[in-house]
Amino acid sequence: MNPTALSIAIAYSAVCVLVIAIVAIIWRSTLPARPRHDDTTDTERLAHGEKAWFAIAVAALGALLLATLPFIPYGDNAEAAGQQVVDVAGAQFAWTIEPSVIEAGVPTRFSVTASDVNHGFAVYNDDNVMLFQIQAIPDHPSDYVYTFKEPGRYQVVCLEFCGVKHHEMLSTFEVAEAR
Ligand code: CUA
Repeated sequence: MNPTALSIAIAYSAVCVLVIAIVAIIWRSTLPARPRHDDTTDTERLAHGEKAWFAIAVAALGALLLATLPFIPYGDNAEAAGQQVVDVAGAQFAWTIEPSVIEAGVPTRFSVTASDVNHGFAVYNDDNVMLFQIQAIPDHPSDYVYTFKEPGRYQVVCLEFCGVKHHEMLSTFEVAEAR
């Protein structure tokens, strides 16, 4: 099993165990509580504390939202100085990749489109591990930013069935040593 598949399997198992535990806790919480005769709970004080905790939760979520906004990978929010832009166009049955040499270590913005039908732009490394994939859609460029750590030759595979020679829609590009 390759390392990526193994880490996915481990992460998936961990999430399954976690979800089962959470469901069990929720299920347990719905069972009726045993009545307590010596109940001296100060419900007024608890109700007051509840409001404070609500305010804390709202403040924490608000802070989390603001702190993570810059990482949203959509639109131009992720646009940063120093990116290299690579224009990619899919067409039955070939890829145009401009420029075809990319520098390692520099965030690379792939601007991907198609001239006829939908294609799937997927990039694989030397070990045949897919690094990312994005739809190539006519009249609707999609961007994906990726930073190549290793120089070398990378393979492009079309991942969306686009016609009789879909399987021949392969290409490569070069990632050069960081300058
Ligand atoms: Cu292009 Cu499949």
